[in-house]
Amino acid sequence: MDRQQSLNRVETFSFVNPWIRYFLFFFSFLFWVFSLLIVAIGVYAKVQKATDTVRDTFLIDPAVILIVVGVVMFFITFCGCIGALRENIRLLKTFSFSLTLVFLTQLVIAVLGFFYSDQTRDALGKFVKKAITHYRDDLDLQNLMDYIQKEFKCCGWNNYTDWSWNLYFNCTHENPSSERCAVPYSCCTPVPGEAMINTMCGFGVQTQNYLEANKSIYPVGCADRAVMWIESHLLLVGALALGLALPQIAGIVLSQILISQIQDEITSVL
Ligand SMILES: *[C@@H]1O[C@H](CO)[C@@H](O)[C@H](O)[C@H]1NC(C)=O
Ligand SMILES: *[C@@H]1O[C@H](CO)[C@@H](O)[C@H](O)[C@H]1NC(C)=O
Repeated sequence: MDRQQSLNRVETFSFVNPWIRYFLFFFSFLFWVFSLLIVAIGVYAKVQKATDTVRDTFLIDPAVILIVVGVVMFFITFCGCIGALRENIRLLKTFSFSLTLVFLTQLVIAVLGFFYSDQTRDALGKFVKKAITHYRDDLDLQNLMDYIQKEFKCCGWNNYTDWSWNLYFNCTHENPSSERCAVPYSCCTPVPGEAMINTMCGFGVQTQNYLEANKSIYPVGCADRAVMWIESHLLLVGALALGLALPQIAGIVLSQILISQIQDEITSVL
């Protein structure tokens, strides 16, 4: 009887920890579903958008970026999901390797972005310049610029005179536009207790100096504001970075543990 029991124990004993296995499975499954969602949003955005202005602004269409990120994520999480479920070493190794590659790529980009912060700022400035230039050509760009200026309480990239990059707001004498030398309404500082919104508050502002402009609009450029925002939200930025890195590190570590446990299992059977 005792002999039978110990035999049973040997048969049911497994080197593979079911907690790790199923955790990796559910975890990958969750991100697998999430990747489908990203692809769906990307495809939807791609179909919805007829104009090419946004693509011209960002060099690559943001919708295409979403689709590519979603598809890459789909294949990686698929390997993790099925690899954990079927205890398939090859799939788990593919999962671990691709996740490591993705993680290192992000790390390199983050470190380069940090050490070459001036170049990063210039590159971002080019995007904003295009967004300002195409402000009236594309509703999405217009909404984006309005959102940035309102949220960060800023105007233009360097300062409010950047709005001359736009045909309508350009401040040269020859410009026939009625909005010559103006800035968009999203630059305007809200006036407390004002009964009617003055949508013309940005008119002629580009001809004014900093102190005059300061009375009606946010005079600081969005580049300086962005730097200030990051400096005052370092904790949030760190938390976001950690939130991005931790699931990846967990996936790499757990899949490596699972791989070695499955390998132990195989050698114990041989
Ligand atoms: C706005 O920025 C431009 C370019 O950086 C600079 O030449 C100009 O003097 C600035 N104007 C004001 C009013 O700060
Ligand atoms: C404003 O328009 C003039 C004439 O088209 C152009 O030469 C000038 O470069 C424009 N200003 C800016 C800041 O782009």
